[in-house]
Amino acid sequence: MNILHVSCSPRDRASESYRLSQKIVACLLDIRPGATVKERVIGGAASLPPIDEDYAMSQHASEDVSQEGSAARSEELIRELESSDVVVIGTPMHNFTAPAALKLWIDHVVRVRKTFHVSPEGKVGMLRDRPVFVAVSSGGRFAGERARQPDFLTPYLKAILGMVGLHDLAFFTVQGTAFGPDALAEARARTDHALQEHFSSFHHPSRERSASPRSVATSP
Ligand SMILES: Cc1cc2nc3c(=O)[nH]c(=O)nc-3n(C[C@H](O)[C@H](O)[C@H](O)COP(=O)(O)O)c2cc1C
Repeated sequence: MNILHVSCSPRDRASESYRLSQKIVACLLDIRPGATVKERVIGGAASLPPIDEDYAMSQHASEDVSQEGSAARSEELIRELESSDVVVIGTPMHNFTAPAALKLWIDHVVRVRKTFHVSPEGKVGMLRDRPVFVAVSSGGRFAGERARQPDFLTPYLKAILGMVGLHDLAFFTVQGTAFGPDALAEARARTDHALQEHFSSFHHPSRERSASPRSVATSP
């Protein structure tokens, strides 16, 4: 099993979303010890450059106008995605939605003729579906009774990843990281519990299932 681990916090390995995504990777390695992990760090100094003019032109042309620059980078990122069996994305919420670093990765992998094509009925995904685990960290809460802000992050990721054919999404969150150490400890504990629940079925042959979650687990 090939795991693609994408992490996009500017705080890199010190970040809460990386910490959570790393736990998900550990759970996956627990059930598939022989799995390989490809790390794709795209936060902070490792941020991808914005897409270039040729790439933008290619997105509405009948063929690519260049294979260089953003097109070459996009090719590499798409290859990584295509060769994965499971994707784990660690992301903070920034301004109610995806951080710019994750948006840039999306701009590179959501590509006409490569990961989707356009039909009279609309855009059609070209990627083989596979489990995608999304580890979200947020300073406030965006789900549950105590939510006090909108959430454009999880619906956006569902829509855009679904558009390229990735529908099998599971969200795990640590919300309220700004509310002090006790709240953070509580949020982490709830998420640990949700992770345990989610992955425990893989250890019981009678409840064995494919690595195909389709659930949304949050810990507001
Ligand atoms: C530019 C920026 C925007 C943010 N916007 C939000 C927001 O809209 N909602 C929220 O709950 N937290 C917001 N936060 C707080 C982060 O989501 C929070 O600190 C999170 O735990 C960071 O995760 P990380 O350690 O993985 O980077 C924002 C932080 C930054 C730097």
